[in-house]
Amino acid sequence: GKKWVLMVTAQTPTNIAVIKYWGKRDEKLILPINDSISVTLDPSHLCTTTTVAVSPDFTHDRMWLNGKEIPLSGGRYQNCLRELRARASEVEDEEKSSSAAGFACLVFSLAKPKNVKEDQSKLSSIARQGSGSACRSLYGGFVKWIMGKEKNGSDSVAVQLADEKHWNDLVIIIAVVSLRQNETSSTSGMLETVETSMLIQHRAKEVVPKRIIQMEEAIKNRGFPSFARLSCADSNQFHAVCLDTSPPIFYMNDTSHRIISCVEKWNRFEGTPQVAYTFDAGPKAVLISHNRKTAALLLQRLLFHFPPNSDTDLNSYW
Ligand code: PMV
Repeated sequence: GKKWVLMVTAQTPTNIAVIKYWGKRDEKLILPINDSISVTLDPSHLCTTTTVAVSPDFTHDRMWLNGKEIPLSGGRYQNCLRELRARASEVEDEEKSSSAAGFACLVFSLAKPKNVKEDQSKLSSIARQGSGSACRSLYGGFVKWIMGKEKNGSDSVAVQLADEKHWNDLVIIIAVVSLRQNETSSTSGMLETVETSMLIQHRAKEVVPKRIIQMEEAIKNRGFPSFARLSCADSNQFHAVCLDTSPPIFYMNDTSHRIISCVEKWNRFEGTPQVAYTFDAGPKAVLISHNRKTAALLLQRLLFHFPPNSDTDLNSYW
C-alpha cells in the first residue's frame, strides 16, 4: 500500500482566568471544585501552535508544541489522544471517511471555536482531559467553565458568556516577569492544595459561587470597577490558598508583588480602578486596562519601574 504521514497543525488561543480554577474533585476526568471564568485572548496575538503527526509507519504518534517536540508518554496526552481516536472512528462510521481524516477534523474543530457546533460536552471533555483550563479556549470572548454535578463529568462544560466584540476596548498586557520555568506544575500544585489547605474549601464553597454571579454581572454591564476588583481579589485569594498549602507554593516573586503594589496605589490614587491584575501558576503579570489610553500609561509606568534585565531579556533566552 501507499505510505502516508498525516500532519495537522492547529492554533489554540490562550485564555486568562479572572475567576480561577484551582483544585479537582476528580483527578482522572479533570473535574473542578468550582466554576471559573476567563477571557480568551485574540488568537492573532497569542496562541499555542500544536502539530500532531500520525502514520502507520511510526511506532508512536508525535506532537510539537510551539515548534518543539514533546514526548507523548504522559498520561494526559494519552488520555486525550485515546478520546480523539475513539471519536475519529465514530466519525469514520458516520461519514465513511478515513479514520485519519476524522482525527484531523476533530483536532481542527478543537482549535477552531467557530466550527464547533454540536457535541459541546464531548469537545469540552476532550479538551479538559488535556488540561482543565483548556476547555475554556473553545470559545472567544468571555467564557465560563461550569463545574457540573455529574460524576461522569457530562455537565462540566465551557459556555460562552459574551463574544469577543462585547467588550473590545479592554486591553490586556502580559508582563513576562521571569523566563524561569515554574517550580510547581499546576497539576501537582492543585493536588497538594486540595489535600492540605482548609482555606481552599472555604474558597470553593463560600467565596467563588458569589464571585461568579458578580463577575457575570460585571461582564454583562461592562462594569470595569467591579470587574477589576473581582479579578484582583480572586487572583490574591488563589495565591493565598497556594501559601496555605503544605509545603507552601510560591508562584509570584518580588517583581510580581511590586507590580501589585504599583497597580493598587494607582487605582487608589484615581479613586476608581484603572487597571486589573491577575497572576496564574507563575510570576508573570496579566494586566487588564479599560481602554487604550490607560494601557499606554500603564506600559510607560511598567517600563519606568521595571526596566528589562537579564532575567527577562528575551535575546538571551532565545
Ligand atoms: O488547567 P491547568 O492545569 O493548566 O490549571 C490552570 C490553573 C490556573 O491557570 C492557575 C487558573 C485557571 O483557571 O486558568
